[in-house]
Amino acid sequence: MANNKNDQTSVSEAQIAVHWQEEEKFHPHHSFIAQANMTDEAIYERFSLDNFPECYREYAELLDWDKYWHTILDESQAPSWQWFKGGKLNVSYNCIDRHLKDFKNKAAFIWVPEPEAEANITITYQELYIRVNEFAAMLRDQFGVKAGDRITIHMPMIPELPISMLACARLGAVHSVVFGGFSGKACGERAADSGSELLITIDAYYRNGTLLDHRIKADEAVAAAKAEGGEIKAVLTWQRFKDQYHSKSRIKKGRDHFVADALRPYNRKKVDPVAMPSEAPLFLMYTSGTTGKPKGCQHSTGGYLAYAAGTAKFVQDIHPTDVYWCMADIGWITGHSYIVYGPLALGATSVLYEGVPGCPDSGRPWRIAEQLNVNIFHTAPTTIRMLRKAGPEEPAKYNFNFKHMTTVGEPIEPEVWRWYYHVVGKGKAVIVDTYWQTETGGFLCSTMPAIHPMKPGSTGPGMPGIHPVIYDDEGKEVERGNPVAGNMCIRNPWPGAFQTIYGDHDRFIDTYFAKFNKDPQSKRWQDWPYFTGDAAVAAADGYYRILGRIDDVINVAGHRLGTKELESATMVVDEIAEAAVVPVHDDIKGVMPELYISLKPGVKKSKAIEEKVIKAIEVNIGKIARPKHVWIVPDMPKTRSGKIMRRVLASISNRRDVGDITTLANGDMVKEIIEIVQE
Ligand code: WTA
Repeated sequence: MANNKNDQTSVSEAQIAVHWQEEEKFHPHHSFIAQANMTDEAIYERFSLDNFPECYREYAELLDWDKYWHTILDESQAPSWQWFKGGKLNVSYNCIDRHLKDFKNKAAFIWVPEPEAEANITITYQELYIRVNEFAAMLRDQFGVKAGDRITIHMPMIPELPISMLACARLGAVHSVVFGGFSGKACGERAADSGSELLITIDAYYRNGTLLDHRIKADEAVAAAKAEGGEIKAVLTWQRFKDQYHSKSRIKKGRDHFVADALRPYNRKKVDPVAMPSEAPLFLMYTSGTTGKPKGCQHSTGGYLAYAAGTAKFVQDIHPTDVYWCMADIGWITGHSYIVYGPLALGATSVLYEGVPGCPDSGRPWRIAEQLNVNIFHTAPTTIRMLRKAGPEEPAKYNFNFKHMTTVGEPIEPEVWRWYYHVVGKGKAVIVDTYWQTETGGFLCSTMPAIHPMKPGSTGPGMPGIHPVIYDDEGKEVERGNPVAGNMCIRNPWPGAFQTIYGDHDRFIDTYFAKFNKDPQSKRWQDWPYFTGDAAVAAADGYYRILGRIDDVINVAGHRLGTKELESATMVVDEIAEAAVVPVHDDIKGVMPELYISLKPGVKKSKAIEEKVIKAIEVNIGKIARPKHVWIVPDMPKTRSGKIMRRVLASISNRRDVGDITTLANGDMVKEIIEIVQE
């Protein structure tokens, strides 16, 4: 097996030497190639830098435009690129209306509730059309929602989530979906940041066998938004079960509305899709960054949809006849691009699953795949590791046949990749290891499944039209085949790229462009390489291997958590003097946060404090951020200038050599901490 340098816990600088052995390549099965959407190698020629940006016409033409664009790439707002300038289109029209002619009775979504005894619900394109129209009519006529308004949606994996999103898109309103597992407080802060006055939620949903009270979080969200200077004026609540209400949260008159009641006057009402400028924002998606505050990545209408559709078609190989299941959550970017927008733009059938993969047992995903005859499957390494551990022989018991599988979100270990390939894919399905980010809207790197062989543990080359480059910290290019890791960057813009950080354009430039931009005044895309914040190496064959984040972000089970965010959440506990979060290796989740705290003078160490801290993290961020351990230590290892040495703590947590600590102000502390942690 390749050495474990793709382990994020060991990556603290871009410039590390990587000694990994080449993995054996796997070739796509001929049955896959025979039916694939993209088999023409010349696509890479067509999308070469010589043909940039004109090449992206090929993606834009997958969409229906109300008005054709006049400028394919407008650089005047560099580095906020405007694609297909002058063009107008509507996203809900492209995802729904235009399919009615051929597919009106075809399933757009098949929803699988978590309780196995509950029946699946199929929503055809025609039904989706009706429901999105009614909801859009209600938003517009009762709540005054109009183009450009931001709407926060805090919902789990139920069909009413994409219905709400598509209704916003129909009106040109900007949705901001907050992952359902996030706390009400996290939701409220995001709502305030985006200036949302309307929150869409649901009373309850199933997760791991329990019906969770979700509506209760809306009250916290309203309060948190207010504390941040925002105001949620109305809360719209869907119901998990018709005519039932499963929440302890009391209904506040004036503020709260049940969707079922609000919809009544809008039965069968139609709303003309609003033709939006291509560069108008479609949605915000918040993600973690190096400082405490999450960043609202603003995605465009035309460029984003073209990119999601093009990549879903060529890389995911989605045909309208396929049954496609992405097990991610719509509350993350993967769900936006590759559960909702990409698949629907192509007229596909997209499966939505409410619950967790292991409920009631690790055979569940394979039963769903067999029952629905899913042929394209999409998930993350953390889930693959979990399923492999819980039941390595389980998939073989079921009769399902994937032609195509995706992995996304974090590096996958070659061992785990091979299990996915042989046992889940039965040696027939191709695998694409897609590398990208919330910011990038769609894939940056992947193999093209019918063209390239697969290499376990590596994503592929840059996508057609994406030209990656690895820079060392001085901005010098690291050549392919040089086993030195560097900063993964993209030379050129692409249509899926986010446009800015909502309300903080300076941070957008500082975080993603400043490092390698030589002329801040430049209006040429050539001067603005995009900085991903990941460390990577490029093999001689042009395949990239992503090693992990180089900033203070921990990628837990494929989800980004800011270490500062976690530390700030911890510091609300009164007894705590200092807190430091470090990434620690975990067999299932890949990486987990581990928390070090020191207490204020006079406070005694206790289990109760640990519990208080965990609770604080759950309330401020969500269960997803729960630390693997909380270590109460007498003091943090510090430099002479007082900086906490997180790197030393990370080494201790991961049982690695702490290296040279002679420069520390309190070197003795290290020995004490090692005893506490490693006893
Ligand atoms: C990591 C998820 C290795 C990377 C789509 C990136 C990956 C961060 C891969 C973005 C992959 C994503 N191999 N690492 N195939 N895909 N990453 O914003 O560190 O939630 O920067 O977007 O996940 O996470 P985000």
